[in-house]
Formats: sequence, structure tokens, C-alpha cells
Amino acid sequence: MRSGLVIAIAMIMLCGSAVVVDAADVQDFAAVERGHYLADAADCGSCHTVPGSNHPFSGGRPIETPFGILVAPNITSDRETGIGDWTDDEFDAAVRGGRSRNGARLYPAMPFPYYSRMSRQDVMDIRAYLDTIQPVRHAVQVNRLPFPLNLRISMIAWDALYFKPEEFHPDTSKSNDWNRGAYLTLGPGHCGACHTPKTFLGGDKPSDALRGYTLQGWTAPGITSGKGPLADWSIADIEVYLRTGHNRYAAAAGLMSEVVKLSTSKMTNDDVKAIATYLKDTSGPAAQSSAPDKNVVSAGAAIYQDLCAACHRRDGKGVPGLFPDLAETATVKTRDPTTVLRVILQGAQSVSTGPEPTGPAMPGFGWQLNDAQIAAVATYVRDHFGKAPPVSESDARKARSDEAARTD
Ligand code: HEC
Ligand code: HEC
Ligand code: HEC
Repeated sequence: MRSGLVIAIAMIMLCGSAVVVDAADVQDFAAVERGHYLADAADCGSCHTVPGSNHPFSGGRPIETPFGILVAPNITSDRETGIGDWTDDEFDAAVRGGRSRNGARLYPAMPFPYYSRMSRQDVMDIRAYLDTIQPVRHAVQVNRLPFPLNLRISMIAWDALYFKPEEFHPDTSKSNDWNRGAYLTLGPGHCGACHTPKTFLGGDKPSDALRGYTLQGWTAPGITSGKGPLADWSIADIEVYLRTGHNRYAAAAGLMSEVVKLSTSKMTNDDVKAIATYLKDTSGPAAQSSAPDKNVVSAGAAIYQDLCAACHRRDGKGVPGLFPDLAETATVKTRDPTTVLRVILQGAQSVSTGPEPTGPAMPGFGWQLNDAQIAAVATYVRDHFGKAPPVSESDARKARSDEAARTD
């Protein structure tokens, strides 16, 4: 039946609407379309594909976790090395239940706690789509964690503590838009995987949902509204950011530029608006500040005028759509300086999407400024534009050595 479906799709692509297909295949085609859309929204391809490879979903991409490296497996329909032989129940148990085929527990680097908010139908549609992808024979050795974390048995405790599988249930007191946005944000979009603070075991802290977290050398800032970092962003500002990777305030770097490119830029305008509607209804705390050293701030201000103001302007407002407004980006306001330091040290290339193929770039200054100067300009930018706490010389030194140790 599956190969029949593939042939039907190939024929539809070849012959346009002239082909007569039977009702079951038309239904399957709709399922494949829905599954394709959901797989993008859930960003399955990003982890399960080696960047730049011609073999989508064939696995092999290393995923950095707080415990060590895991490698995403092959989820093409190859029977030996992929999921071709799996039953629908087994596939569903993996995606929503965090169980591999033999019942072993998966590590939460696979975001199943979020995916458990999808319905079984959603997961079956994703499978229908994966079945149309060319099967690739590629055996992946997933687990490169140190002992005892390499023992999947250690996940029993994790699941008991942090995994509460629950399908999304709409809140009838809210609008349809809000509910659609909540489903996408908390479910397939797994925004909290990066944006929600974690316990030392890597489980979400639900009371701090979406209030910001640092992973893989990037700060995913808080994306709450209320008094939180998105307080001044309108629904339209969030929409433009998720569709294009930048807006009048900010530009997506690093991990988020990949999320925009592979996932949110492929969502419908209605869905992106729904996410924005939901985020604008969240509440979060305002960033707190502690006063930095005046001499450091004035040294930082001088470096800023010299090296940064040409693009970001003296007032930090930048140029809408080109150079981010440093006073409005959560990256600058957030307590954790990881991303600000990383961007100043190595520069940043903004995302390019279909409608906007060339994104503006920022040069790195790591070769030009010493640790004290990096700390000073980061302190100035954070204090002046973000009311965020100062950055020390040792923070800068650490960021530089973390940077040198990275391979991505
Ligand atoms: C953030 C990275 C990430 C994303 C996004 C992701 N996965 Fe995974 N996935 C992994 C990793 C890592 C594993 C291996 C976990 C383990 O072995 O404990 C995995 C395991 C799996 C498995 C089990 C395969 C096996 O051989 O045991 C399936 C099936 C799967 N993913 C499907 C999906 C689907 C479908 C999506 C999108 C809805 C998705 N994944 C999104 C990282 C990811
Ligand atoms: C793989 C990790 C990851 C995932 C998943 C992710 N984000 Fe992000 N996000 C980031 C990082 C890192 C940044 C900071 C980017 C920067 O510094 O330019 C960010 C920035 C943002 C910003 C801009 C904040 C600002 O003030 O600059 C918004 C809005 C946002 N993300 C929304 C979302 C939404 C909505 C989702 C889910 C659909 C999502 N993110 C999923 C990592 C992630
Ligand atoms: C040639 C123009 C240019 C110069 C000079 C420049 N920047 Fe940038 N800056 C950019 C662009 C473009 C981005 C957005 C890149 C992206 O999308 O990731 C950016 C991003 C940033 C961000 C992250 C903002 C966000 O939304 O996450 C910070 C912080 C920053 N710059 C600070 C500085 C500092 C400090 C200096 C001087 C040491 C500087 N920039 C010099 C163009 C520039």
C-alpha cells in the first residue's frame, strides 16, 4: 500500500491533476500533506539529518546534551537501519512515549515530552509523510554518553520525575487562535526544549516555562510577555520574527536561525500568528539589574562608538530589518551573557529564508579585542540597552575558551 501511495504521488507530480486516483489514495495524500506540515513544525528533520546532507531523516547528527553527546538515529523507512519494519504502535510509542522499539527508554534529547501533546493521528500523519521519503541504509550508533548515563535504565527515574505524557486539551475560555498557538508552542514546536529553564537533571521547570535557558553555547532568552522580555513586542513583531528571522528589534542567531529556517518560516501565517497570540498572553518577570563599575562602562561605551555604532547606531536602535535594535532584543536583556559574548567574539550571520535570501551579517571581534575589552563592551551594551547585569573579564575569558573548544 505504501509503495502504491508513493507511485500515486509521483504520478500526481508528473501528470498534474489529469490522473484519476482512488479515494483511499486521496485520503492518504491529505495525510502525507498534514504529516509533512507537522514534521516541519516539529522540526524532525533538523536533528535527524546531518546538516547539508542529501539524505533527509537518515540520522547521524550529534546532539549536545548536558550529559554528553547523543546521535540522532535513522528514521527513514529502511527496514534494517531505519523504522521501515516498525508497527504504527511502536512509532507512536517512540514519538509520544519516549520508548524505543524494544521498550528501552529514549533520552529526552528527542523531545518526546513535548510531542506527547500531539494526537495519535498527528503522529500517524508524520509517519505517512516519512514513508514517502527515500529509505536510506545507514546504521547509527546513537549512544556516546559516559557511564552510568549510557545505561538507559537511568531514564526510569527521569521519566518518573519529569515526563507527564498528556495530549493537548484546549482551554475553552480562550480563543481558537490562542489554543492553536498553545498547541504549537507546547507540542510539536517544542519551544520550551530551548527556552524553558531546566533542573540539574535536564528536566523542565514548569513554573519557569519559557523564561530562558542556555544550551549548546547559546542563550535562548525568555520569550514571555507580561513584564518579560517580549513585553514591548507586538503580535506582528513576533510574527515577522518567526517568519523571517528578524524584525525591527532583533535578528535570530545560532540555534534560533535554524529553527526559523527549517520550521517557523514554513508555517502558515495563521499558525505563526497563533503562536504570537499565545506568547503575548504569557507572563514573566522583568530582568533585574546590579550596577556595573563606572570605569568599565565608559571604556565599553568608547569601544561601542568605535566598533559597533556604525551598524547598531549610537542609540542602539540599529536599522529596522538589517541591524537589530539592541534595546529591544531579549538576548541583551537576559541575565545570562553567553550569546552576547559569543556574538561579539565570533560575529553572526542572520538567517536567510525563501522570501529573503540574503541576511545581513556581523563581523567577529574576538581577534581584535582582549578579554577586558570584550567584557567592557558587553557590559556597556547590556547595562545601557538592556538593564542586564555586568559581564566580568573572566566571563569573557571563559566564553573565548568555550568558543575555541566548540566544533560547530
Ligand atoms: C532535538 C533533536 C530531535 C528532534 C527535533 C527530533 N528527534 Fe527524534 N530523536 C532524537 C535523538 C537524539 C534520538 C535518540 C534518543 C535515544 O536513543 O535515546 C531520537 C529518537 C527518535 C526515534 C527512535 C528511533 C530509534 O531507533 O530508537 C524516533 C522514531 C524519532 N526520534 C522520531 C522523531 C520524529 C518523528 C520527530 C519529529 C516529530 C523527531 N524525532 C524529532 C533527536 C530528535
Ligand atoms: C533549538 C533551540 C530553540 C528552539 C527549539 C526554539 N528556540 Fe527560540 N531562540 C533560541 C535561541 C538560542 C534564541 C536567541 C537567538 C539570538 O540570540 O539571536 C531564540 C530566540 C527567540 C526569540 C527572540 C527573542 C528576542 O528577544 O530576541 C523568539 C521570539 C523565539 N526564540 C521564539 C521561539 C518559538 C516560538 C519557538 C517554538 C516554535 C522557539 N523559539 C524554539 C533557541 C530556540
Ligand atoms: C557590520 C555591522 C555590524 C557591526 C559593526 C556590529 N554588529 Fe552587532 N549585529 C549585526 C547584525 C547584522 C546582527 C544580527 C546577526 C544575526 O542575525 O544573527 C548583529 C547582532 C548583534 C547582537 C545580537 C542581537 C540579537 O538580536 O540577538 C549583539 C548583542 C550585537 N550585535 C552587538 C554588537 C557589538 C557589541 C558590536 C561592536 C563590538 C557590534 N554588534 C558590531 C551587525 C553589526
